[in-house]
Amino acid sequence: MRRGYFITFEGGEGAGKSTQIERLADTLRRAGHTVLATREPGGSPGAEAIRHVLLSGAAEALGPAMEAVLFAAARGDHVDSVIRPAVERGEIVLCDRFMDSSRVYQGVTGELDSSFMSALERVTVGDMIPDLTLILDLPVDAGMERAAARRGKDVADRYEKEDLAIQERRRAAYLAIAGAEPERCIVIDASASPDAVAHAIAKTVRALIKSKPAGNAKQLENAGADHG
Ligand code: TYD
Repeated sequence: MRRGYFITFEGGEGAGKSTQIERLADTLRRAGHTVLATREPGGSPGAEAIRHVLLSGAAEALGPAMEAVLFAAARGDHVDSVIRPAVERGEIVLCDRFMDSSRVYQGVTGELDSSFMSALERVTVGDMIPDLTLILDLPVDAGMERAAARRGKDVADRYEKEDLAIQERRRAAYLAIAGAEPERCIVIDASASPDAVAHAIAKTVRALIKSKPAGNAKQLENAGADHG
């Protein structure tokens, strides 16, 4: 039984997902909710092991289809061992990237067959479709600048090294998903100030909780109150 909420954050490099997840988690906790913040690839011990293989580039030699299978394997474990149990307990799960990252990075820019990708999605996600997906959108050059600043002297990971044209295709792919699934996806202007972005997100989440009252989701009116 689904008593809590499952909210995912998506977007390109440097969109500010992790900062905004922290802020939303804080806002929701202060309003009395139990929040679980997690991320992909990873989020469970099995999936974190696969994350290392994927982000180090060690899986690159396997080719894009088998990389997609590894992302899927990580997701399946994460859903079964972390996400579904938390949502069933009535918690609010905030996840940094989820199925739309596979649709965009593997499906669109990885140019994998769409029936292959939807089969993987069906097997790994099943009925754990997010209640809400926040797509943090900003111009690609601004995102890459932020990602480079955040990285400092660390080397870019496999996905951060890719060029502007690919990142533009990903941005367009996210916007296309939002257009196709407006009941699930909300596009947030991530080029605004962190406070303004946090405010927009809190407002959207309040609306979700109001429209789908669930399990232990109490004290809804207070969510995001500190952001106005
Ligand atoms: P991470 O360091 O978590 O990056 P970010 O801060 O951008 O979220 O690295 C995750 C990378 O993995 C990111 O570049 C996107 C990629 N990815 C996929 O290609 N497919 C997927 O299904 C997921 C979840 C992530």
